[in-house]
This record gives sequence, structure tokens and C-alpha cells, in this order.
Amino acid sequence: MASKIAIIGTGYVGLVTGTCFAEVGHQVTCVDNNADKVKMLQDGGIPIYEPGLEDLVKKNTAEGRLRFTASTKEGVDESDIIFIAVPTPPQDDGSVDLSFIEKVAREIASSMTSYKIIVDKSTVPVNTGENVAETIKRYNQANVDFDVVSNPEFLREGFAVGDLMEPDRVVVGTTSQRPVAAMREVYEPFKAPIIFTDINSAELIKHAANSFLALKISYINAVSIICEASGANIEEVANGIGLDERIGRRFLNAGLGFGGSCFPKDLSAFIAIAEQLGYKFDLLKEVQHINAGQMERFIKKIEETLWVLKEKKLGVLGLAFKQNTDDVRMSPAIDLCQRLVKEGAELRVYDPKAMEKAKEILPEGEGITYVDDMNSIGEGCDAILIATEWPEFTELDLEKARKDLSHPILFDGRNLFEPAKMEELGFIYKSIGR
Ligand code: UDX
Repeated sequence: MASKIAIIGTGYVGLVTGTCFAEVGHQVTCVDNNADKVKMLQDGGIPIYEPGLEDLVKKNTAEGRLRFTASTKEGVDESDIIFIAVPTPPQDDGSVDLSFIEKVAREIASSMTSYKIIVDKSTVPVNTGENVAETIKRYNQANVDFDVVSNPEFLREGFAVGDLMEPDRVVVGTTSQRPVAAMREVYEPFKAPIIFTDINSAELIKHAANSFLALKISYINAVSIICEASGANIEEVANGIGLDERIGRRFLNAGLGFGGSCFPKDLSAFIAIAEQLGYKFDLLKEVQHINAGQMERFIKKIEETLWVLKEKKLGVLGLAFKQNTDDVRMSPAIDLCQRLVKEGAELRVYDPKAMEKAKEILPEGEGITYVDDMNSIGEGCDAILIATEWPEFTELDLEKARKDLSHPILFDGRNLFEPAKMEELGFIYKSIGR
């Protein structure tokens, strides 16, 4: 049975969610207040890189299940279930800016003329659902019935289509039974376990999940420091503990640390919420501290090997915050480049997908040269740095790199290469925890 759905906010989460809902047969209207973005989507363009998304958007638009509009009213009128997927950016004090959520809630409320289910898909602090319900009640001029539901997303950028088409679980938070059947219908085609719980628990599940994943990464990064000091190998340790299914091997990759638009923001938000609720979440503060320390330690490694950074020429592979995405928000790779330029180094940089977005925050010219070919990264350089875990970087022509570099030096911030092999090739090779 096809549900009639509107998605308000056509970004990394909204566009993927709307497209996958259409793919499984629902009727979807994606709304965005950026008219240029709506036009691009209507003309078949895709504003973000997400593997597999472009084909699905084209297919579902052509088959009439997916459409785009800049009008919230249009979206509301044509749907029974309205997903809010607008940004909830961090504020300086770690709390979350909910102004986009509140604005959309008001717009939906003033457009409703019949019973609607409003679903909060954006990552929000616990107790936001109650505020959204109150806002809709106040601006609901037609005074029609509605229900507010929490339905957090668990999509990894770069893998979002797969994560939604085959979710580990679906979490639905609701205070009344009325939306349950409709929400089951939306997710039935995905054949995944659905947890129905209260709104507060659903909102907390999101922050608790992301913070735990970040904790796992900081844990293995902390252990990598002990490995370096003791001559152990962090990859072997991660494999050894990861075979215990209570631990699991994923998210135990030591490196430059985590970034992106989610982990840093969700950690700060969870710490801020806990504080407001009377709990000092020092464990998560330590997760942040360890993560920041990884960048410091990597730069120290570079300085120990190259001595002076000023006027050194460095080739940096990777600008996105992780592989398989063009997203550079809170990217450790960008942070690394900015710090090295500040020390007076001159950089040649390459990324398979993120260079356009990177140029907006790392402008060409001020100590930065963008190169189009990965294998030219080391030309005229003193060292090569790996900053993002793009699988294609393992195909780097190391023979050419060795000849291009004044001295064969490679700093691997994502442990993509094997120490033994690099030493065999004559490189001074520095990585994390090995
Ligand atoms: C994350 C969660 O995985 C996802 O479930 C949630 O919905 C949104 O936030 P995302 O931020 O897109 O997804 O990417 P993720 O794959 O989690 O990586 C986040 C950061 O952690 C990246 O910077 C990545 O490089 C880093 N990372 C990941 C590590 O440093 N080590 C690891 O083992 C895994």
C-alpha cells in the first residue's frame, strides 16, 4: 500500500530518505526552501554525491513517484505523513540550533487542512518532539488533528542508500497509537525490525548510538597510543578484540580521528543535554579530548620527521571527512591542511569527490594547489600525507611517488598502507599505532 509522503528538507538525509521511500513504492514530494536546488533536482541534477543516489532519483522521478517543490503547502496538501529533515546545526556552546525545525513546524501547521502525521527525522535533543507538538498546536489555524512522531535516521554518508534500503532497525517514537499503522506501512517494504517506543526514548537512541560509535573510535585511538609506545600493532589489536561479537570489528579503525556533520555535533549536543538534565557526561568529554589529540599527535609526527614545516611542500591525499562522500563539513583532512598552511607549508591536495566543496573553505592559491591526478600529488614535494580513507589511495603509484619526492616520506593518517611493504620500498613511513 503506497503512503503519501512529504519530506521537508532535501539534503543528505531528506533526499536519500525521500528517494528510497519512492523506490519501495511510496508517493513522495520532496520540499526545499532553496529554489535553485529544487530546480536542479527537477532538471535531473543531484546537489550531493552519494553512491547510487543519482540513478534512483532519475528512475523514481521518471516513474512519477518522486517530485520536488519549493512550496511547503504543496507538500503538506499532497501527503498524509510529513517528514521533517531540515538541518539542526551546532551552536558555539554545543547546544543545537532548532530554529529550522521550529520554522518548518509553523509552516506545516499553517498549511494543514486534515489529519497529518508529522515525523521528526532530523537529529534533535530529547524533548524536542514535545516542543514541535506544542508549536503545531499553536499555529494550526484549521485546528485539525495531528500526531508528532520521532523517527531518527541512522544513515552513514557515503553508504546512505544502502543503510536505508537495508536498515539494521527502524526506531519510531510516538505518544499515541494512532500513527502506528501508518508508520508500519511506510517501513514495511524495508523488512527491518521496527521498534515502537516513546518520543523521548527515540530521540535519545539517536544521540546514544552516535556517541557510542564515536566512543569506540576514540577508544581505539587511545589504544593506538599505547601500541606506538609498546611496539604493538593497533590493526592486530583491533582485529583481536573485534572478533568478540560483543565488541565487533567495525568502527575500530585508528587514525586522524572522526569528523563529519554528525559525530562532533551529536557529541556536543548529548553532553549539553546531559548537563541540562543534571548529569556531567565526562566520558563523552574525554571522547572529544582523545579525538582532538589525534590531530595534534599526527602533526607532531610530521614535525618530528620533517623538522621545520615552513616552506615545506606537502602532498595531501583526501579532503572529505571520510571515504565515499564529497562532504567536507568538520573534516579532519581540511583541519589538517589549514593547520599545515598556518605553519607555512605549501600543499598540493587531491580528493576524488570533495575538491569542489573544499575550495569554498580551502581556497586555491593561499599555499594550496589542487591537482586533478592522484599520482601527481608528490611532484616537487617533501612528503605525502594520507588524510581520508578513500580506498583508491591504496592504488597510489608508489614507485612514481618515490621518484617525485625529494626524499621518500609518507605519513599515513588512515593506516591504508602496510609498514613492512613501505619500508621495503625505501619509504620513511609513519602511521597510527603501528
Ligand atoms: C555517522 C553514523 O555512522 C550514522 O549512523 C549516523 O546516522 C550519522 O553519523 P557519518 O558521520 O556519515 O555517520 O560517517 P561515519 O562512517 O560514521 O564516520 C564518521 C567519522 O568517523 C569519519 O570522519 C570517519 O573517518 C571516522 N571513522 C569511522 C574513524 O575514524 N574510524 C572508524 O573506524 C570509523
